[in-house]
Amino acid sequence: MSLGLKLILKLILKLILKLILKLILILKLKLTMEGSHMYAKVLSCSLKGIESEITMVEADLSNAIPSFNIVGLPHVEVKESKERVRSAIINTGYRFPSKRITINLSPAHTKKEGTHFDLPMAIGIMWALEYISDLYVGEYAIIGELSLDGKINRINGALPLIIGLRNQGKKKIILPIANVLEASIIEDVILYPFGHLREVVDFLKAPNLIEPYSKIEIHESEFKEEKTEDFSEVAGQDSVKRALQIAAAGAHNVMMIGPPGAGKTMLARRIPGILPEMSYEEKLEVTKIYSVAGELSEKKALIIERPFRAPHHTISPTAMVGGGGIPKPGEVSLAHFGVLFLDELPEFNRNVLEMLRQPMEDEVVTISRVNASFTFPSKFIFAASMNPCPCGYYGDPTHECICSVGQITKYMSKISGPLLDRIDMHIEVFPVKYEDLSSNGIHKSSLEMRKEVESARRMQVERFKKSRILYNSQMGPTLIKKYCKLKPESTLLLEVAFKKLSLSARAYTKIIKLSRTIADLSVSESIETSHVAEAIQYRSLDKKFRGI
Ligand SMILES: Nc1ncnc2c1ncn2[C@@H]1O[C@H](COP(=O)(O)OP(=O)(O)O)[C@@H](O)[C@H]1O
Ligand SMILES: [Mg+2]
Ligand SMILES: [Zn+2]
Repeated sequence: MSLGLKLILKLILKLILKLILKLILILKLKLTMEGSHMYAKVLSCSLKGIESEITMVEADLSNAIPSFNIVGLPHVEVKESKERVRSAIINTGYRFPSKRITINLSPAHTKKEGTHFDLPMAIGIMWALEYISDLYVGEYAIIGELSLDGKINRINGALPLIIGLRNQGKKKIILPIANVLEASIIEDVILYPFGHLREVVDFLKAPNLIEPYSKIEIHESEFKEEKTEDFSEVAGQDSVKRALQIAAAGAHNVMMIGPPGAGKTMLARRIPGILPEMSYEEKLEVTKIYSVAGELSEKKALIIERPFRAPHHTISPTAMVGGGGIPKPGEVSLAHFGVLFLDELPEFNRNVLEMLRQPMEDEVVTISRVNASFTFPSKFIFAASMNPCPCGYYGDPTHECICSVGQITKYMSKISGPLLDRIDMHIEVFPVKYEDLSSNGIHKSSLEMRKEVESARRMQVERFKKSRILYNSQMGPTLIKKYCKLKPESTLLLEVAFKKLSLSARAYTKIIKLSRTIADLSVSESIETSHVAEAIQYRSLDKKFRGI
């Protein structure tokens, strides 16, 4: 071979090599351009108290050192999603990418809580990897918690989450099958319940193959618990029953005071049974609270009975009014539209009692956080019981009290004046008389009492139909002036009582509102002097407390 030919061949080879190198470079560039960022965006939502707002779960995968990060103010339990999402994808039979994964929960400035982001995160990652085509995913809102094996678990707060989505026009919802009964209560949504991540992936590949969940008709009777407690079981005690009926009729707060064994606890437990049935909206609102609190179950999907909450006296302030790392409703909200009963009131921590004042006044609890503030409703009838002194027999005609004046004063002072002032009715309970207990007489039943309460409540609905309140106990000065006109004799009677019992201004208005309810129970438009006289009787503690 001549030297010239060799040189030419070398040149050509060099050129080809250069070309190949260039091609490889271009190809590599193209590859990294395409492969460096894989992105998907899944529709979900997050809780704010008992409301919810739309949250987009963004997944971004890139070719860098493998890592997995969640941003957008996730709470610690959301951060733990990483492990569940990774294992669930692998155990569903897919490869987990060795890429740099970033999940953003947007809007990024609000705190995200709950485990229901697991499923949208997993779907986001699988969508970005094109395990699922992007043809359909965008149509659905997705919520659900994952197990390591890919199973989809029940979540708390499903009811408010889904109501929030629907209210924003997002009506097609993928959710855990274990939440479907709870979600069935909501009208105007299309539900796709699933039990495993694999089923969701298969569904999103061909959504038309699966029909949406056809909601079963929910019969409230399924959730009805048999009433075991009735006022007919309470012998005698007619005056106490009457007082509790007044409390129920006007939603007035009550305090029962009397020696041990007088039946205070027994009587209090029967208050919800004489309250009118809740409306559908009220049931839904209470159910939302229980959903967020995690107090619903697959079987108990709807709260239809008015709540009766009787927390133990060792309860913490957070458990009472709500709050905590992940803000949860407290007892005051779990008692919404029902009764909050504090048995043996002086045993409660004074801090806890002081914290009750705000929810009692405002009918909502506000929990403030750096990045958010939540409100939980807390409209309840407050009922409490206490002994008159540490030994329990102060003022009892049949037993001798062994307490010193100092002891009694200390005991009474555990309940602050301001809290006492917020209680509308003080009811003295004396032990049932032997004759009452042993007689075979028929005692007034809860049903009879409720019928009368319902008629008194109907008068209030009519009266307040243009105002924003429901009960007499909620009236402010203007409404009191309008609806509680007193006769001259009544005014005189009140004046005497005010001076004799040294009542506070708050106690004075409470007596007037109470008189309105007593008149309503007698189906009387006008407040008679006898109504006012009865109302004054329910301020016995004002006198007792000041008498010590
Ligand atoms: N008026 C009553 N009729 C029927 N049983 C009663 C009555 N009062 C009390 N009892 C009985 O006494 C028990 C103790 O009453 P309880 O409500 O615990 O009293 P307190 O809370 O005032 O200490 C009740 O469970 C009930 O069996
Ligand atoms: Mg008791
Ligand atoms: Zn005593």
